[in-house]
Amino acid sequence: MFITLEGIDGAGKSTHLAALAQWWRARGREVVLTREPGGTPLAERLREMVLHDAMDALTESLLVFAARREHVLRVIEPALKRHDVVLCDRFTDATFAYQGGGRAFDRAVLLQLEAWVHGHCQPDLTFLFDVPPEVAQERRAAVRQPDRFEAQNLEFFTRVRQAYEQRRLAQPQRFALVDATASPESVAAQVLAIMQERAQALGQPGGAR
Ligand code: TMP
Repeated sequence: MFITLEGIDGAGKSTHLAALAQWWRARGREVVLTREPGGTPLAERLREMVLHDAMDALTESLLVFAARREHVLRVIEPALKRHDVVLCDRFTDATFAYQGGGRAFDRAVLLQLEAWVHGHCQPDLTFLFDVPPEVAQERRAAVRQPDRFEAQNLEFFTRVRQAYEQRRLAQPQRFALVDATASPESVAAQVLAIMQERAQALGQPGGAR
């Protein structure tokens, strides 16, 4: 099962990866925890460039998809072949949201890159952690030194959020919307309840317990 976590920076998604991993391990499943851009040594090097070097939106898109190809070939597909559960912090929805929405880059090009790079390999379930950009901005300010994306303004994150919502509406069966404005405990409860329901619906071993 291939599960991804998405949302604007500051939505708090990464906090829930460990709990999801624990949920699956408690049900006897091997779990691969990974992230994008990144997940292999080469893809992590590309991540550093994407997060810190100035570049145009096409270069940015090519680099995230180059990193993704490495990641899919070397980590995600082998794990899925072993029937491990793959938990990935961001995937291609982030490209549609950040490059397509935030940077207003041509979505037709992104669709083509998606088809070339991993048309055959798509998430089974995507948690979309939704939070208003103002709330996310406050949370980000409290935490750390911003990278190139985190330093963007509210208009940018409003476009990113809208682009995520468009992807969700286009593929409602894949997405699970999480109200990420609630407390971390309440968000965690939502996430695990969704996981239980979806694992059963997808007929996953362990999901029925
Ligand atoms: P993270 O901080 O959640 O690890 O994500 C890294 C940043 O990279 C985040 O600001 C979103 C951005 N990003 C893109 O712009 N395009 C992509 O395809 C991915 C996966 C991430």
